[in-house]
Amino acid sequence: MAPVAADLAGRLTSAGQAHLLAHAESLAGGARETFVAQLASVDWARAAAAFASKAPPLPPDLRPPEALTWRRRCNEPGLAARLARDGDALLAAGRVATLLLAGGQGTRLGYPGPKGTFVLGPDPDRSLYAILLERVAATARRAGRPVPVVVLVSGDTEEATRAHFEERAFFGLPRDAVWFVRQGELPALDDAGRALLAAPGRLALAPDGHGGLVEALVRSGVLDRLAERGVDVLTTFQVDNALGRPLDPVFLGWLVDRHAVAAGKAVRKKAPDEKVGVFGRGLDGRVRIVEYSELPADGAPDLVLGSIAVHAFSVPWLRRLVATEGFTLPWHRARKKVACLGADGVVATPSAPNAWKLEQFLFDLLPMAPRTAVVEVDRAREFAPVKNAEGEDSPATARALVAAEVARWHREAGRPVPDPVPSLRPLVADGPDDLR
Ligand code: UD1
Repeated sequence: MAPVAADLAGRLTSAGQAHLLAHAESLAGGARETFVAQLASVDWARAAAAFASKAPPLPPDLRPPEALTWRRRCNEPGLAARLARDGDALLAAGRVATLLLAGGQGTRLGYPGPKGTFVLGPDPDRSLYAILLERVAATARRAGRPVPVVVLVSGDTEEATRAHFEERAFFGLPRDAVWFVRQGELPALDDAGRALLAAPGRLALAPDGHGGLVEALVRSGVLDRLAERGVDVLTTFQVDNALGRPLDPVFLGWLVDRHAVAAGKAVRKKAPDEKVGVFGRGLDGRVRIVEYSELPADGAPDLVLGSIAVHAFSVPWLRRLVATEGFTLPWHRARKKVACLGADGVVATPSAPNAWKLEQFLFDLLPMAPRTAVVEVDRAREFAPVKNAEGEDSPATARALVAAEVARWHREAGRPVPDPVPSLRPLVADGPDDLR
């Protein structure tokens, strides 16, 4: 067999991946070619740099940004009504699309399929996808026109996600308004920064983080198609928040009001150690989100606005940004569980985090935005995270939060609260007004 091309061999060796070179040389024929092609597709120097880099220290001047607070929204009904009208006008003009982040592996939940197919209940058809996408369908119905939906999937989630959408007739969304976009993958590394194998002749790869959506939107042509369709604002939301409201008209209206090109929703943090990213604004006037895993040990108690990971971006701005020479999002390293081939030649699925994944964060776009609008929302109404199998932020806590929200709608509509509280069915009712 011919040796691995010298330039690739050099890149691997200088990035501390000589073991991959040795592994390639141990393979024969087609297996070797496939593996070498996989090796050639990775930026190993960048992976090594990302592995070696520590989270940058928190800029000392970071303060919570100015936000449209929940209190102000309640105390100034005129303002809230005006913003809602502006947001509704954008929706009615077909200028808003939304993107669901559904490419994650959801290892903490310990559920084998894509998280969106997880049945939150109480009714057996209430998967997270059903709850969230019916809400989009309900908003589109109110707006009188479809809202394009982009679903970010990965190699791990695409097939089962597509099958679930088919089974559920796309949750009432027109099929031609739903686009699946597949994000990229990056190698998983061991504690010494060496790439792991999933099998002989195959790297262990993991989704490249939700920031990978930017590249995926460009590669798939979907960003251009959104623009061609007249979409000006793309909102994003996560599959793991059963109460996510990415098309909230007040949120859209505030983005317009602030002349912002990016926006995010926040809640007051429960405690400094709550596992949410925090909003901060530096002396440069730029707003950023610092991920909880990169906060100092005290959890930066002054940064009280936690991110619920609902964002909005101007599509023309995004298109200009990605066309800028050298545009890229940083790679962060995150400790995760990765099934890999052991020294004994057996593939093992670990019970505890054993590896480092490299991930891009969507919210690293924020500091690139000249103006960012932040809306603080009521946690009880918009944040029901499903992260862990048990305890905090689990299906049990999320189910209780959703039930409390549906019960509140009944009370606000002046109706008795049914016992048990019915499932959240946005196409039947998505708030007190629908119940009235
Ligand atoms: C996330 C946010 C955190 C925020 C919190 C709110 C990140 C890195 N952190 O934390 O700032 O306060 O939610 O609940 O996002 N995903 C992909 N592709 C990937 C990786 C993830 O689509 O490659 C999706 C997942 O499917 C999920 C979402 O991104 O919908 C969040 O992923 P996860 O990494 O679990 O973030 P959290 O730690 O929960």
